Parts: sequence; structure tokens; C-alpha cells
Amino acid sequence: MNKILITCANKITPYLVQEVESLGFEITAEYPSAVEIQGTFHDTYTLNLYLRTANRVLYWLKDFVAFNAEDLYAKVLEMPWEKYLNPESYLTVDSIVDNPTIANTLYPNVKCKDAIVDRIMQKTGKRPNSGPEPKGAMIFLYWKNNDASIYLDTSGEVLSKHGYRRQPFQAPLQENLAASIIYATQWDKNTHFINPMTGSGTLAIEAAMMALNKPPGILRNNFAFMHYNEFDKKIWSAVRRKANTGIEKKLDIQIIATDINPKAIQAAQANAETAGVSQYIQFKVCDFRETPIPQDKKGVIILNPEYGMRLGKEDELKAIYQGIGDFFKQECKGYTGYIFTGNDLLAKHVGLHANKKISFYNAKIECKLMKYELYEGTKKAPKNNT
Ligand SMILES: C[S@@+](CC[C@H](N)C(=O)[O-])C[C@H]1O[C@@H](n2cnc3c(N)ncnc32)[C@H](O)[C@@H]1O
Repeated sequence: MNKILITCANKITPYLVQEVESLGFEITAEYPSAVEIQGTFHDTYTLNLYLRTANRVLYWLKDFVAFNAEDLYAKVLEMPWEKYLNPESYLTVDSIVDNPTIANTLYPNVKCKDAIVDRIMQKTGKRPNSGPEPKGAMIFLYWKNNDASIYLDTSGEVLSKHGYRRQPFQAPLQENLAASIIYATQWDKNTHFINPMTGSGTLAIEAAMMALNKPPGILRNNFAFMHYNEFDKKIWSAVRRKANTGIEKKLDIQIIATDINPKAIQAAQANAETAGVSQYIQFKVCDFRETPIPQDKKGVIILNPEYGMRLGKEDELKAIYQGIGDFFKQECKGYTGYIFTGNDLLAKHVGLHANKKISFYNAKIECKLMKYELYEGTKKAPKNNT
């Protein structure tokens, strides 16, 4: 057993904890944007394949003290790199560095890479290739003050990309943020999931993948773990096979994605196609108020309207937020309504009491997921004209 650090974006840890535990691992430490577990190298295959909310899965190798870049080089050179990497490997080094002797934070990457390559050259007579692309082996350095830690990054390309979004539309949500938002709604996957203003379809596609039990990594054929000596192709094939057999073929609920812009629906449909979930989502070009709302199995209705920071203007959006409040009140009784927005002032125009506000970051913007319980029975009784 070894230490494995799984990183995520700020505010995502609670959802990552939930996912990691549901895969059968015990959390040994929790940080603002990471969790730690104990596991084997082969466990990283499962983690990389299944985690929807993570950024990276880092397999710990060594902690040491380094006062400056020369120290770092010497300590990294001492490590048995020939055990982890073969000389044919393509190598990338990434880092988070906060050391008083380092002005250029890319410099430690170069020192680390030099030490690894020099060590492998000494031991095998061959020099591995290196570069910035996350296509092969990836070493991660965390260096804060004088304390350094070295990890094998088993992910490579960051896990926040779930591999289906070939066609972005305006202001798309990052895939792992969309997954975290859905976890935060506590949607039970046995009730309908309605997503007006779907844009490039991220929320609807993530919901479909969750309901189908389709792991986000199933669309990927390259992870960094494949580029280390310890990689066992047979075990990886078995992990993938098990994941494939666990994918549902049929859904008894509706996932509905609508948008007023035909180009958005075109992009969302193409992305859902790439994700292999297009047959499970009903798409429609329409104003959010025209979104079909099934009256059985009432579940979650979620909108991510523009919020004036990157796109439309605040004033014009007030009417939209007010319209969403009216739509929730009049058409969505029995559902739990959610609005994901980065603008508290606009959210006030919804005109409904938010039962809960959950904080997230969308890039650098602090956003809130506002929850509205849309109770049945408060609808005004239809006028009796008789
Ligand atoms: C911020 S984007 C949603 C991004 C989406 N969550 C994603 O991940 O791609 C807002 C979307 O609302 C749509 N929209 C704006 N006004 C609308 C309206 N009145 N009815 C329906 N959709 C609308 C826009 O076309 C845009 O696609």
C-alpha cells in the first residue's frame, strides 16, 4: 500500500470524498483541493477511470528537504528512476512550487527532468525523451518552502476533461464541475433530470453518464499510468471490462436538454453523440419556458443562465432570472429547482426563497448553486368559470 493523492478544484472535495468512498477506498486525509488514500499502483487505474470530479491521481514516491534547485537536483538524482521508467519513455515534469530561492517556477521542472534523465542515462546508457505534452509519463513535484514531495502522475491529461466535448458553446462548464454540481443536487438517478439552457449539454451529458453508470474515463485510451514499468495491461483490461459490463443499456427516466439557440443544441447533440449518450437525452430548441416538464417521477430541474460577467448584460438578464422564478413556480411543482450562477444580485430576481446556497468556483469566479424546493399544492387553483 502506498499514499495516493487525488487532486480536485477548490470546493469540490466533498463530492470527491463521496466518489472515492463509493469506489471502496478510505480517506486518510482531506485538504482544500485534494484527498489522500492508501492504495496500490494498480488502484490508480480504477480511480482514473471512474472519478468524475477529480483533476489528477498522484502516486506518492518520496518526501525530502530541498533548500534550492541544486539540492532538488541532487535528491531527485538519488531516486531509482530506472525502476519506474524505461528509457523509451516520453517524460513530462509538472509542479507546484513556492520556495524562496525560485523566481521562475518552470525552473524546478527542468532541474527535476534533468535529474531523472541523467539517472536513467547513468543506469541504462539511454536518455528518455522529454517535453511539455501530457502524452507519456508525468512526474509531479510539490515543493513548499523547503519540503518537497515527488509523485508519479498517473493521469497525464487532466481528468477534468471527460473527452466528449469537441464542440464547446458559450461559457461551457468544465465537465468535472458539472459532475460535482449534479452530486450537490443529490439527484437520485431514478427521477427525471431537466436542463433548460443546456448550452453545449455538459450537465445533461454528465447526468446521462451517471444514470447509465458510464465512467468518464471510458472514452480515453491514454493515461499516464500506462507509461510506467509497473503498468499491467491484463489488470487494466480487466478493470475496463468490468466497467463496460456495468454500463446500463436502458433508462427509465427522462433527461431533457433544451436551449433557445439551435447552434447550442447542435453542439450538445454532437457532444452527446461522442459521449455515446445521445439516445438517452431528449433535445429541443426552445425558450426555457417551453421546456417539456414530465409530471411523473419529478426530479431535478437545473439551469445555468448567463450571469453578466462573461456574456450578456446584467440589466437584460434580470428579466430572465425573474422568468425562471415564474417558470419554477408555475410549471415545475414537485421538482427541486436549481440555478447555477455567479451573480448573487441577479439571483435575487428569481423572487423565490432559496432553501440552500452551495458555493463553487467556475474558473476564478465564485458561483452559487441555489436550491429551490418547488412544493406541490402552492399553485394557484385554476379559476372556476362555472
Ligand atoms: C451559460 S450558457 C450554459 C452553458 C452550459 N451549462 C454548458 O456547460 O455548456 C447559457 C445558455 O442559455 C441559453 N439561453 C439564453 N437565453 C435563453 C432562453 N430565453 N431560453 C433558453 N435558453 C436560453 C444560451 O443560448 C446559452 O446556451
